[in-house]
Amino acid sequence: MTYYSKVIGTGGYLPEKVLTNAQLSETVDTSDEWIYERTGIKSRRIASAEETASSMAEIAARQAIEAAQIDPESIDLIIVATGTPDRVYPSTGCLLQRRLGIKHAVAFDIQAACSGSIFGLSIADQYIKSGAAKTVLVVGSEACSRIVDWTDRTTCILFGDGAGAILLTASEEQGILSTHIHSDGEYEELLYCPTSTEQQAGYISMRGNEVFKVAVNTLGRIVDETLEANELEQSHIDWLVPHQANSRIIAATAKKLKLSMDQVIMTLENQGNTSSASVLLAFNEGVRDGRIQRGQVVLLEAFGAGFTWGSALIKY
Ligand code: COA
Repeated sequence: MTYYSKVIGTGGYLPEKVLTNAQLSETVDTSDEWIYERTGIKSRRIASAEETASSMAEIAARQAIEAAQIDPESIDLIIVATGTPDRVYPSTGCLLQRRLGIKHAVAFDIQAACSGSIFGLSIADQYIKSGAAKTVLVVGSEACSRIVDWTDRTTCILFGDGAGAILLTASEEQGILSTHIHSDGEYEELLYCPTSTEQQAGYISMRGNEVFKVAVNTLGRIVDETLEANELEQSHIDWLVPHQANSRIIAATAKKLKLSMDQVIMTLENQGNTSSASVLLAFNEGVRDGRIQRGQVVLLEAFGAGFTWGSALIKY
């Protein structure tokens, strides 16, 4: 018997500290108008010195567990997507496992930059469909502020911190309908973050304009691929939950799906780009405020460094 991966709980966490465009314009040569017009961002959250990917992941994960009303011990697999791990090792997944006090799960990290949570959903879905795992926790958690060069106005305006979580369990009822993930390592130079062992310090480097163009085209293609694989029309999609990188990229994807912006879950304005956390944070917001209803069809998508990109079509 093949099972579906059913969503049974979601969670999210944002650090308390807010950094507005106006505050940023005091330290770099930019303005609220420029940032908002080009990106759709007005403010972002910044992790405190004590907060890490695993501490934020813990709060989001506990919320998802509470929403699902399950015994945490029933979780078989913990997948954490992060580009800003607490440590090189142990993995943030293992650190989260420890924080949650879950003894029997297997835990690991995946690194697919901003597409991390979609890659995580795809892996979780394969484990559940094959019967290798029954209940899987997927978390995207990022302290992007630690790898941002705060003197570089082309990147420091974009990123924020936070964590999103989702719990999936094997079910005969429909859940994840399909996932589609891709990568193309040819684009390394357009968006990368050196490790601290390289000569250059470990800050994000991006050719934003070029990234923008590839992102719009690629996300258009992933929409077609997802609809075709499920033999669906645009009109079958109730909600778009996009990676929150730039409102103009999101608007282009919504247009491709013939969706109005009212059918798009937007968190960008007050969160910025939280990399692998963004899709799960947005999904959590849509579920918790009651916009995303049981039985509706939701398209999640993301694009990130690598390049990596992907989608997950979920019947919630
Ligand atoms: N404030 C004011 N001016 C800025 C600025 C800032 N924060 N950042 C860049 N500029 C300037 C540039 O120096 C450039 O000036 P010039 O014309 O004198 O050389 C001008 O604005 C235009 O720069 P450009 O990079 O072409 O702007 P853009 O319209 O492409 O917007 C981004 C820049 C980064 C907002 C946009 O390219 C983007 O969002 N790209 C995608 C990024 C992304 O999604 N990354 C993550 C993928 S997961």
